Amino acid sequence: MDIFCVKKMIERNREKVLIVILSIAFSVPLIAQEMSLSSDNKLDSILSAMSIEDKVGQMTQLNVKLVLKPEKNPIQVDSQALDFILKNQRIGSFMNTIGRALTLMEWNYLQKTIRYFVEKNDLIPLLYGIDAVHGANYTMGSVIFPHQLGQAASWNEDLVFKASEITALECRASGIPWVFAPIVDLGRQPLWGQFFETYGEDVFLAERMAVASVSGLQNKDQGLNVGGCAKHYVGYGLPQNGKDRTTVHISDNILRELHIPPFKAAIDAGVMSVMIGSHDLNGLPMNVNRYLLTNVLRDELGFEGVLVTDWADIKNLHITHRVTSDYRRSILAAISAGVDMAMVPEDFIFYETLLDLVLAGEISEERINQSTRRIVDMKVKLGLFDEQDYLLNKKIGEESHQRVAYDLASESITVLKNVNHTLPLNKKLKVFVTGPAANDIRFQIGAWGRTWQGMDTIVTSESIMSIYARMKELGEIALLPGIAVDKILDVDSALNMASKAEVIVLCLSENPSTEKPADINSLTISNTQLEYFNRLHNLEIPIVVVLSQNRPRLLGDIAENASAVILAYQSGSMGGKAIADVIYGEVNPSGKLPFTYPRYEHGISTYDHAYADEVDPMYGTNGFNPEWEFGHGLSYSEFTYSNLSLGRDSVFKDDTLIVLVELENKGSRTGKEVVQVYISDEVASLVPSVKRLRDFKKIELDKNQSKLVTFHIDVHDLGFVHPGEASKYVESGWFTLSVGDLSARFFVRH
Ligand code: BGC
Repeated sequence: MDIFCVKKMIERNREKVLIVILSIAFSVPLIAQEMSLSSDNKLDSILSAMSIEDKVGQMTQLNVKLVLKPEKNPIQVDSQALDFILKNQRIGSFMNTIGRALTLMEWNYLQKTIRYFVEKNDLIPLLYGIDAVHGANYTMGSVIFPHQLGQAASWNEDLVFKASEITALECRASGIPWVFAPIVDLGRQPLWGQFFETYGEDVFLAERMAVASVSGLQNKDQGLNVGGCAKHYVGYGLPQNGKDRTTVHISDNILRELHIPPFKAAIDAGVMSVMIGSHDLNGLPMNVNRYLLTNVLRDELGFEGVLVTDWADIKNLHITHRVTSDYRRSILAAISAGVDMAMVPEDFIFYETLLDLVLAGEISEERINQSTRRIVDMKVKLGLFDEQDYLLNKKIGEESHQRVAYDLASESITVLKNVNHTLPLNKKLKVFVTGPAANDIRFQIGAWGRTWQGMDTIVTSESIMSIYARMKELGEIALLPGIAVDKILDVDSALNMASKAEVIVLCLSENPSTEKPADINSLTISNTQLEYFNRLHNLEIPIVVVLSQNRPRLLGDIAENASAVILAYQSGSMGGKAIADVIYGEVNPSGKLPFTYPRYEHGISTYDHAYADEVDPMYGTNGFNPEWEFGHGLSYSEFTYSNLSLGRDSVFKDDTLIVLVELENKGSRTGKEVVQVYISDEVASLVPSVKRLRDFKKIELDKNQSKLVTFHIDVHDLGFVHPGEASKYVESGWFTLSVGDLSARFFVRH
């Protein structure tokens, strides 16, 4: 039966349900007191009270939009639809695509209404899942943090932890216990539209950030934790053609060496759920890949939580991927491969067919019990069987939360170029601020703002500062955008105003977008912006370029001729303030690139490339020539490195290598430096990377202060995965370690 038939049935069977009563705050009775314990026995008793219909329902996740009256503001639940769905589909979860952010009152009303009907239908509490990927973005008034790419650029795990904790708190205030974050796919293909949602190209950085994020989201200390979801398992970030949800080719050993470890890190940190990617990997759609979903994820990595599909992906097995001929076969294949919960999210056929498959004996009840148990266990762990007091918590967008958003934005902002100390700007200079992102906060927030794609985000009622708004507080500013991203506005007036300034701050961007709508065919920044830069450059006034971008867009003349370039990523609700504060030196920048910034359209490469990738057409070694390297980022302080020493110059493969290096701040102000340790395997039986990040620490030093920084590196981790093997193996031989401009060699023995 499809959704339209069901809607008709609802119309025919209209019961009288008093929605008005529900919208008034009522006390939510405790759902089955005896269910509040989290012991195995309790879990058993919950499960034994469930019918097979209830269990199949637990594996079903529908879009909450199905039970909302269209376009209502404030939101209105279609109580007949909700009651009907709960009665007939027995669902375990709703996911959120409402199309806009809700106020706290609306959230409160929605969650209480759902809970009332859940109880009325003798169901266990639902898991409400949402894409709170950089803050509780679908709650009006919440703080929005930089997107993950910016978070990674801060190289500050403490701040990422705190931001995740706040996300959990603000989601819980909205009655939401489950977020579809973090993304632990690697960002190694900048054309891909979800590149900005990753922690960048490096596996080590992604692992560390994944742990910080999962630990923050799920931190029980604050009692308002949410379940995290590591996504999109696995290799999703490397589509061959750069387009979302397309074919990925990754060899088994590279999968294990680069792409699986961030999932492993999230699992070791206790992540409660994992989302399966929508792609096919080496020809097999992930949703039917029993080997990766069960043998590797469960048996090898030890994942015990809930494995959920992405949007409509079981249906996509026959519709898009064409590996099955109909929905029934798709469901059979996906459940057999290991899927626990299907993000259906808008048909009723999944539930009915899965139930039928079980009743027909094609899927065993035991298999259904496995998944149901994991889902119910997650609900118990999240306290969903307890009274939902947090619905009354109104800690949204508090000062202390804004402060973390500001700190994270400040530490993410990466100064890529700064000729002759153009930055920080002297506050007495006459500045002309221009470009599409100068006074438009949508470019700071990006996609997953108050709406999915972000460009249609309405944030005017909120007190989020643009770059211009904050600059105006600090200096002598004139403003005219001059252009939109792809459209000339009033360039002549802008040029006229610019000619009277001593410095131009040009704020460029790309229109926020994500997933399929973010598919692009070229990485080059829009022509309109390029031409506008060139016309401003003709005025021979220094130009500071600020980039609020989803991914590296090729800059051409801009990179060459700008006096300074600041990469701000999508910096969130405090981003405008943070950017302006970096420009004027209120903040000493400390962000470092979490990816390699390409120079050429087809010259995309990562920092951990092979030596052969460096060979140029003249057989020299200039073949790797990005605009800016991974790990690059300038400070207003001058940091120097000295006295690099290794505990020993010869180690065994089970040893820990101790690295000591002295860092000094020779600048005139306090600053933070990310000390990055890279190691190169000089010769190996499989082509080695020219270097790999093996550790880092972010250190703050006052002017003239120095500090001895210590690292402990497990020699075992320096190995690589041989084809056909499951884990890393370190070969004997010489390795070179480098920190800053220093290097030292050591030998690994067996
Ligand atoms: C995206 C996921 C997201 C899901 C739910 C999908 O299309 O790929 O990242 O969590 O939608 O909104």
